[in-house]
Amino acid sequence: MEHLEHIWKKGKKFLGVKTPIIAGAMTWISDSQFVADVSNAGAFGCLAAGNMDPAMLDSEIKKTQKLTKNPFAVNLITIAPHYKNHLKIAAENKVPYIVFAGSFPRQPEIKTAKARNAISTPQIGSELRIVAVRALKNRGHDEFSDLQMDLIQKRRKDEISLAEAQYEVEKFWMGALRKAVIDGDVDFGSVMAGQSVGLVDKIRPLKDALVILIEEAEQELSKILESCKKS
Ligand SMILES: Cc1cc2nc3c(=O)[nH]c(=O)nc-3n(C[C@H](O)[C@H](O)[C@H](O)COP(=O)(O)O)c2cc1C
Repeated sequence: MEHLEHIWKKGKKFLGVKTPIIAGAMTWISDSQFVADVSNAGAFGCLAAGNMDPAMLDSEIKKTQKLTKNPFAVNLITIAPHYKNHLKIAAENKVPYIVFAGSFPRQPEIKTAKARNAISTPQIGSELRIVAVRALKNRGHDEFSDLQMDLIQKRRKDEISLAEAQYEVEKFWMGALRKAVIDGDVDFGSVMAGQSVGLVDKIRPLKDALVILIEEAEQELSKILESCKKS
């Protein structure tokens, strides 16, 4: 662990955890239990606010705080319909870390989620703001493209306001993810998956996955340093 210990000193201090590995927020998956399990295992969990009803987010934050004494973040999607309420709730619950997604937050919003830093995911799209996500291609994927095209056409003909179009996009995206994750509809739901999905070969307990990640990172670092010494 000597190499890792050296390079993640800053991360440990910033996040206040033993293992500065962030479990990226996943809407409908990163709930209080999941986040507390990650944080109790020594890593850094992110509670996904997604499109939650604000009262549900409040309760999920309180549940997480009961299940773990270790640090965790709340992930807020800046273009979600309840975003402003989510931000208020996070501040009221004194959540020390907020990870923003969707767009760059404005300065007064950062002053509210006294956050020491904000991490924002990239955004794409000019006429409609779409959160950049990766999902396995399925029929739902095609439906989402159709919906965007339909909304853009309507916008161009001035048949719908930007706010209404934006709301439709959010509703579809959040609804589709829920369809896949909660209802198990992998054909029409949004089966979101990051690039690391290609490396998944086994279902493992969270603690084992962390140990493997750390061991492999240490081995890779040793290899890189060895080859640097040789060259
Ligand atoms: C099912 C699913 C839901 C996600 N929901 C969110 C979210 O609500 N907020 C967010 O910032 N990122 C979200 N992400 C993105 C992940 O946090 C992560 O950045 C992404 O999956 C890339 O990492 P990976 O390659 O290790 O999977 C989601 C990803 C997945 C797979």
